[in-house]
Amino acid sequence: MILRSGRCRLFQKPRLFTCNIMDSESSSTGDGPRPQFGNRHLKNPDDVFQHNAWDDVQWDPEQQEHARKVVEQNSSEKMSPEDAARIENEAGKLWDKFYGVHQNGFFKNRQWLFTEFPELVPKEGNIDRVNVLEVGCGVGNTVIPLVQTIADQNFFVYGCDFSETAVEIMKQDENYNESRCLGFVCDVTAPEWPVPFPPNSLDHILLIFVLSAINPEKMHHVAGQLFKYLKPGGLVFFRDYGRYDMAQLRFKKGKCIADNFYMRGDGTRAYFFTQEDLRKLFTGAGFVEEQMLEDRRLQVNRGQKLKMYRVWIQAKFRKPVLQ
Ligand SMILES: C[S@@+](CC[C@H](N)C(=O)[O-])C[C@H]1O[C@@H](n2cnc3c(N)ncnc32)[C@H](O)[C@@H]1O
Repeated sequence: MILRSGRCRLFQKPRLFTCNIMDSESSSTGDGPRPQFGNRHLKNPDDVFQHNAWDDVQWDPEQQEHARKVVEQNSSEKMSPEDAARIENEAGKLWDKFYGVHQNGFFKNRQWLFTEFPELVPKEGNIDRVNVLEVGCGVGNTVIPLVQTIADQNFFVYGCDFSETAVEIMKQDENYNESRCLGFVCDVTAPEWPVPFPPNSLDHILLIFVLSAINPEKMHHVAGQLFKYLKPGGLVFFRDYGRYDMAQLRFKKGKCIADNFYMRGDGTRAYFFTQEDLRKLFTGAGFVEEQMLEDRRLQVNRGQKLKMYRVWIQAKFRKPVLQ
């Protein structure tokens, strides 16, 4: 169904949608459809500035050790518990402020969505309603393209975010249409979720650079809620920061809240995952791992001759049919 170019026969038109995740961690290097990651390899180090990005970059032990030391340094001073508690309590407001400033102009180019998660596309001839939830949907950089791109009228996308501003901006989008999608405000760390669907009703849940914004101590609650609302057999699609990503190495001392969890200049937060973190979190909540990939990419600024080593983790977890 999905072609390597990222197009599918169910799509209304080859709309190229965009997203950009904090600190330009968007995986895209252009506007065209992108094949699955891992297709351009740097064989000769002298060629590094010939392209904007290289896939599956191997880190030697020296580079790994350097990254470990940088993180040891930048997390050697932890933020005070009072400050950490303050930004935890204000997390929603801080994201509201972020969207108040950036509106819908920050995130762009998410052309990997259908190539990496082809299971999202309903089978041809589908007659059943397909319910998808994006947790932490922001201003709709996934929700809107999903309903625009997938023509199947049975395909319905819910998007929740705890930033009221973000949800409002999404609702202003000319392509927002409540016969195909519904945005609502929900803090997913809250004990109960005010959701417009019952337990065991979602086919797919998307977590795109959202879990990293959540206090690691609360992630197990979130994973438990995802399990509750997914149908047996349903899938969680995850993509987020990996340990030692360039964004982690850039933090200065004093910004570390807890191990591998930091505060950015605007008060929003970022956690940097290992595959083991995720495995523990999701299998602990009852899921079965279906995919676990580390996307190590070298992005290059050819003009300034800069090399940026990015690490992202992509995973899929299934709620078993029989529990
Ligand atoms: C990095 S942004 C990603 C937004 C969107 N997934 C995208 O890729 O465009 C993280 C989003 O998670 C939301 N978020 C963070 N913590 C949340 C929480 N506890 N409950 C709901 N949304 C949350 C933020 O408001 C923000 O919109």
